[in-house]
Amino acid sequence: MSEPVGGNGVLELRGLTVARGGRTVVRDVSLDIPAADVTALLGPNGAGKSTLVLAVGGVLRPLAGSVRKDGRDLARQRPDLIRRAGVAIVPEGRRLLPDLTVEDNIKVAAYSLSTEAAKSGRGRVLELFPELSRRLSAPARALSGGEQQMLVLAQALISSPRYLLIDELSLGLAPVVINRLVPTIRAVAADGIGVLLIEQFAALALGLATRAYILEGGQIRFSGAASELRDKPDLLRSAYLLRGSEETPAVE
Ligand SMILES: Nc1ncnc2c1ncn2[C@@H]1O[C@H](COP(=O)(O)OP(=O)(O)O)[C@@H](O)[C@H]1O
Ligand SMILES: [Mg+2]
Repeated sequence: MSEPVGGNGVLELRGLTVARGGRTVVRDVSLDIPAADVTALLGPNGAGKSTLVLAVGGVLRPLAGSVRKDGRDLARQRPDLIRRAGVAIVPEGRRLLPDLTVEDNIKVAAYSLSTEAAKSGRGRVLELFPELSRRLSAPARALSGGEQQMLVLAQALISSPRYLLIDELSLGLAPVVINRLVPTIRAVAADGIGVLLIEQFAALALGLATRAYILEGGQIRFSGAASELRDKPDLLRSAYLLRGSEETPAVE
């Protein structure tokens, strides 16, 4: 490949292979996360979605492959470097510091930023989640599930990432809360951030996304327009996705 890769506002995952417990669970995965857009990553339990996110974030070290941003390969770099390079991840079941206040949880996430950047980042996330500005002095453990997810997203967004990988946005949340988060994800993408959305409710993810991928058994089984996948229920069913999407909250 002689052409420059990773530029033009796309985070390019190429040939990523990741092992866990000595077993390869993500195999030769290539996908694009374009800036200013939402891309859906769907797939049944155990497909390797969370593993892929952790590998991109530098928490797990891929055996092979690259993660290109602006011509630079971030694969196998340390998590803090990847974060500083503008790639943020929200891992599945991400925990807050329960005894710290909302304000302090925001501060913790901003610790590596300059005073200036932390201040503007704080302003931006509180604008995105006005619910949090009303609860700044509450300990994180006192927040509702939805507020906790907002705080987790705020922590990821405070450093102004160019790309955001969200693992299970709606896990454990009530439909009304999920619907509250949908316009936020749209706003984040409209702001220029490339979002990779992993979401158990396929219809919700496909309603937000332009492109979609299905991961099954550690490999990409489908990639194409999200609208195409919306029209192919058989493909979704084969990936065991319709089970969960029966009670999918409507998008918008
Ligand atoms: N900590 C771990 N140690 C060993 N194997 C793991 C671990 N976490 C997940 N796995 C295995 O890796 C595979 C992919 O899991 P995961 O990435 O969590 O899939 P998904 O997020 O799509 O449900 C599964 O077979 C799972 O059992
Ligand atoms: Mg997972």
